Amino acid sequence: MGDVSVFKIDTSEAEPFLPSGTLQLLEAPLTEVVNELESGRGPGGEYLGWLDLPVQITKAQIADMTAAAVRARDDTEVYVVIGIGGSYLGTKAVLQALGTGKGSRIVGSQPATEGFRNRRNGSAGETRCRVPEILFAGTSLCSVAFGNLLEYVRDREVRLCVVSKSGTTLEPALAFRFLRSHLEKRYGRKEAARRITVVTDARKGALKQLADAEGYESFVIPDDVGGRFSVLTPVGLLPMAVAGVDIGELLQGAAIMRESSRNVDLRKNSAHLYAATRFALYREGFTTEILSTFHSGLTTFQEWWKQLYGESEGKDGKGIFPASTLFTTDLHSLGQYIQEGRRQLLETFLCVREGDSSLTVPEATSDDGLDYLVGKTLDEINWKAFEGTRKAHVKGGVPCMSLEVERLTPVTVGALIYFFEKAVAVSGRLLGVNPFDQPGVEAYKQEMFNLLGGP
Ligand code: PA5
Repeated sequence: MGDVSVFKIDTSEAEPFLPSGTLQLLEAPLTEVVNELESGRGPGGEYLGWLDLPVQITKAQIADMTAAAVRARDDTEVYVVIGIGGSYLGTKAVLQALGTGKGSRIVGSQPATEGFRNRRNGSAGETRCRVPEILFAGTSLCSVAFGNLLEYVRDREVRLCVVSKSGTTLEPALAFRFLRSHLEKRYGRKEAARRITVVTDARKGALKQLADAEGYESFVIPDDVGGRFSVLTPVGLLPMAVAGVDIGELLQGAAIMRESSRNVDLRKNSAHLYAATRFALYREGFTTEILSTFHSGLTTFQEWWKQLYGESEGKDGKGIFPASTLFTTDLHSLGQYIQEGRRQLLETFLCVREGDSSLTVPEATSDDGLDYLVGKTLDEINWKAFEGTRKAHVKGGVPCMSLEVERLTPVTVGALIYFFEKAVAVSGRLLGVNPFDQPGVEAYKQEMFNLLGGP
C-alpha cells in the first residue's frame, strides 16, 4: 500500500491479475514518458501548463479572484456558471464534494438545486444569501432544464460567470445569449454588464471579443492549459471562491500531490502507480474502468473523472472506457453485471473514511432481523459494504484498486484532482496517444452544424 500524507492507494487486489514482474518491467517506459512530459517533448507538449499550476499561481492572481468573489457575493442570490465539459465539471465536482458534508441540505444524493448551499446565511426561509447559490447552465441543449432555470432566476438577483476556453462552444454560447438578454431586460445594459464575468482565452474567440466590446470583467485561461485540465485556473477557482471554498487550500493539496508525484520510486508515487497498474491491466484485456464510490458527494467528481479520462485516452482506436457507479445503490442494478458479466472490467474505489459518526443503529421494540447491527454506526456498515463488495468483485474476476482519503476537505480534493490529472497524462502517453487533444469531439458538431446551416 502506497502512502502520501493526504491519501492512500492500494493496488494489492489488482496486481495478482498481472503477470508477475509486470510493474517492474513498466518502470523504464514510465520513466521515459515522465521525462518526456517534464521536458515538454512529445505530442501535446504545448498543453502542459497544468503541471505547475499549483505552484505557479501568484498571490496577486488569488487576490484578484477573491476580490471578484467578494463583489459577487455582495449583491447576488444566484450565481450562474455557464460552461460545458472542462469548463464546469471540475467546479461542480468540488462544490458537491465539499458541500455535502454534515449539515448541508441534500435531497436524495444531490443538493436540492445542484448548488453549494451549506454556508447559506440566515434561516431556511430567507432568500438573501451571503454566499449565493451556484447553478450551472449551458451544460446541454435540453429546453426543459434550461426553461426551469430561466424561471428560477427570473426574480432573483443574478450574476453570470461565462466560462469557455474557445469562446465558441454552442451550448454555453446559447445559454449566455438567453441569460444576457434576461439580465439586460431586468437591469439595463450597463448594470447587466457589471454582473457578467467572463473566463476565456487571452486573445481569441467570440466571447473574448464580446467581453472587450461590452467591458465585462474578465479572467484568462492560460494558453497552455486545455479545458479538462483547467479546474485549477480561474475556470474553477473563481466560482469556487464565490461559493466560499478556500482555494488556497485546494491549491495546497494539489501542490502536495504534485510534489509526491515527482518521486522516482513507483511504490511511493501513487499517481504513477495508478497509471502503470491500469495501463498494465488494459494490456491484459481489462478495457473498462469503473470508478466506484460509497460516498454520495462524489458523483460529480466521477463525471469530471469520466470526462478527463475519456477525452484524454479514447482515441486512435485505443483507451480504457471510463464508467462510474454509486454504491450501494448501483449494487442493486449494475452490481449483477460487475459480478458476473463479460470480464473486461477493472474497478477503482474512491473511498472517504469519515462520514456522520453520530448515526448509530438503535434498539428496536420488536425484532426486524437487524439486532445484530445494534450499536454499529451507519458509517461502519457502509465501510463493511465496501470491503465486502471489493472482496466479491475480486473473486468474480475484477481487478480492484482503492484510493482512500480520511475526509473531503479542500486539501484532499485538490490532491485528488492533481492525482488524476497526472495519472492520465502518464497512462495516455504509455498508451501512445496524445492525452491533450480531443479531435473526436468535432465530429458531432460538424454534423449538427450541417443540419442547422451553421459554420
Ligand atoms: O477538455 C476540453 O477541452 C473540452 O471538454 C472542453 O472543456 C469543452 O468542450 C468546452 O470547451 P470550451 O471551454 O472551449 O467552451
